[in-house]
Amino acid sequence: MTDQQVDLSIDLMGLHLKNPVMTASGTCGSGVELLPYMDVSSLGAIVGKGTTLNNKKGNPPGRLMQTSGGLLNCIGLQNQGVDYFLANILPEVGKLDTHFFANISGNTVEEYGILAEKLDVEGISGLEVNISCPNVKSGGLAFGTIPEDARAVTEEVKKHTSKKVLVKLSPNVTDITAIAQAVEDGGADGISLINTLLGMAIDSETMKASLSNTFGGLSGPAVKPVGLRMVYQVYQKVSIPIVGLGGIMNAKDAIEYMLAGATAIQLGTANLVNPAVGLEVIDGIERYMKQKNIKDIKSLVGKAHR
Ligand SMILES: Cc1cc2nc3c(=O)[nH]c(=O)nc-3n(C[C@H](O)[C@H](O)[C@H](O)COP(=O)(O)O)c2cc1C
Repeated sequence: MTDQQVDLSIDLMGLHLKNPVMTASGTCGSGVELLPYMDVSSLGAIVGKGTTLNNKKGNPPGRLMQTSGGLLNCIGLQNQGVDYFLANILPEVGKLDTHFFANISGNTVEEYGILAEKLDVEGISGLEVNISCPNVKSGGLAFGTIPEDARAVTEEVKKHTSKKVLVKLSPNVTDITAIAQAVEDGGADGISLINTLLGMAIDSETMKASLSNTFGGLSGPAVKPVGLRMVYQVYQKVSIPIVGLGGIMNAKDAIEYMLAGATAIQLGTANLVNPAVGLEVIDGIERYMKQKNIKDIKSLVGKAHR
């Protein structure tokens, strides 16, 4: 390594990632969709769109809208089910030279176990367990707000997989650290923070809620201070790695999350603004490290805790 070279690689739950930049579930399909815009294999990892046991049509239209500072969505976990994913999507994902995490959502604790077992196959590095979707009636949020339930889902998934397990938490709770500790106790290998914040919009012309589901999940720049605060708090309470996300639009945002305690970060809404944003964030982090004379990115993690 010459003086000017920097090391962006990280260890996430025992997996070697070439850099800490991942995609966030639901914002770029399976990652293959980004291929026209960039070399997807240069990302640290991809997280797939939420997969459920059975085919899900999602909510009716009126399910995505722009607000000042972010996006509101109530997609409702639209996907073709886990068997379709295994037969049709995973083979395409397998052609990419990066880690792939399958994001799963269940209606019951047992369903999470079945999904984990079905996805315990080659081509998948890990699972991201969504216990935090606010847009479907039983889309997991119920499990994400009660520590005992969050722990039960984690234990069930761990029982049925040999893969690394990230549990993705909801910010729609009073004390995020209680949930984080519960999933750590349940055997989670890592925590993803945050999913969307429950919000709504009203159309003053029609005088009705704008989204078909009335409520939706708020993402984008508006939620960054909340995500950052939660990563900072959880870093002080758990010893498993945290993947930080929520409103990361550029390298500066990503670095702030790492300073708060995130080992890796995910880009969500940013992909919808610029599908090549991942590369820009990787380049920006590298530039920052060179400017600050930081050789190893791992030294940034949690540095704001002083
Ligand atoms: C259109 C859309 C679909 C999403 N679908 C999922 C999903 O299937 N599973 C999941 O865990 N999170 C899902 N999310 C949440 C994102 O992965 C992410 O947690 C959230 O948007 C916050 O990050 P951001 O501000 O960078 O977008 C979705 C978000 C959006 C905007």
